[in-house]
Amino acid sequence: MVGTGYVGLTTGACLASLGHRVVCADVDVAKVHRLRAGHVSILEPGLSELVNEGLAAGRLEFVVGAAQAVVDAEVVFLCVPTPMGAGGAADLAAVESVIAEVRTVLPVGCVVVNKSTVPVGTAARVSALLKRKDVPVVSNPEFLREGTAVRDFLNPDRIVVGCDTQDAAERVAALYARLGAPTVLTDAASAELVKYAANCFLAMKLSYVNAIAELCERLGADVADVTEGMGYDRRIGQSFLQPGPGWGGSCLPKDTHALVQVAGAVGFDFPLLTATIDTNTRQRERVVSKIRHAAGGRLRGKRIGLLGLAFKAGTDDLRDSPALAVAELLLAEGAELTGYDPGVRGEVPGVRVVDDAYAAVKGADVVALLTEWPEFRCLDWSRVAELVDSPLVVDTRNHLDPDALQRCGLTWWGVGRGPANPLQVLAAVV
Ligand code: UGA
Repeated sequence: MVGTGYVGLTTGACLASLGHRVVCADVDVAKVHRLRAGHVSILEPGLSELVNEGLAAGRLEFVVGAAQAVVDAEVVFLCVPTPMGAGGAADLAAVESVIAEVRTVLPVGCVVVNKSTVPVGTAARVSALLKRKDVPVVSNPEFLREGTAVRDFLNPDRIVVGCDTQDAAERVAALYARLGAPTVLTDAASAELVKYAANCFLAMKLSYVNAIAELCERLGADVADVTEGMGYDRRIGQSFLQPGPGWGGSCLPKDTHALVQVAGAVGFDFPLLTATIDTNTRQRERVVSKIRHAAGGRLRGKRIGLLGLAFKAGTDDLRDSPALAVAELLLAEGAELTGYDPGVRGEVPGVRVVDDAYAAVKGADVVALLTEWPEFRCLDWSRVAELVDSPLVVDTRNHLDPDALQRCGLTWWGVGRGPANPLQVLAAVV
């Protein structure tokens, strides 16, 4: 396993728990030492336990440098970062440098697997860089969500394995046999595209739902009922229909931009996807305009208490967090920000990060909930009402109980549940 980031470490620990012998490599010497001692720094439920079980059973090892990890390997997983490079394309520098390091030491007949999200055609490119006819390159994308990565790995919806050599694809698929998941065996390009197509579809679903929420506000409809009514249609499904401040994280933003690039490179214009991205940018601006409105029309000098900073609940990950994008826009208009997130410690530019939710809302002109941590539902809202300067709560995820807040004298503003006047709406529409 080359790379012990969130994908590499989860994959390594889970494969070890399935009974395989796994050696994980990283270039970060201090991190390798910490992992050898069983210290996992990623906030991922169940991961630390699995790592420690694997270490104790002798099925999981950590080494410095890829070359050391691959020496006796039958299968080599590449789990290195593929960040967004210039112009939105995935930057493959880390993949290329690993190939240069291991190509001559790979055992005869082993299989190299791309686990990182890489552009269509990367398996072929890695194969060309390897210059090893005896080493097939397989694409085996991951579908793990941060915060539930271990559960997703052990209960997958599907396993996708792509290779132009059937035997190599079957060898990789066999690693997951105990999970009993539907398995798609295909060619490398198709497997690579499955990952982008799935993530971009999810992003599109979310942008669509955020647009419907906006429409609900203008028409006086309730987005919670609209999405429930849509979701019972099995072709649509109930999941991924929750409106919010926009989608973020380390995957969806990167992968949508990358697919636009991939499509553009083969002359395919993809307006559906560019509109998905633009709708997401607009969603953040919409949240800011709602907070501005709650603050009385001007943000300069206004104190905004932010509940949540991470890109979603259950993680400490701030990468491409919609909460931070909103914070940046608020700062640009002169707001003063205090924020609390149960998973986030340390510095966030422009935000005074405090240790509890009550400290975040103290003296606030507006409270804005940006990440859906369950503990925010259980706050003592009457205490919040005493602490704030003004009783407005903008709930960008429809996460709170409006009645509970109202009983405490607070005004709750959600998303897509606006109290439009039905007669005015009718007059405008007809
Ligand atoms: C995503 C995919 O869901 C995984 O299947 C995929 O493996 C992973 O990317 C990856 O490529 O590695 P993740 O980035 O962990 O997983 O985050 P999601 O749970 O998909 O959430 C993405 C964003 O959408 C978050 O900002 C979240 O708050 C938002 N979201 C999600 C909503 O606003 N509403 C929803 O109903 C669901």
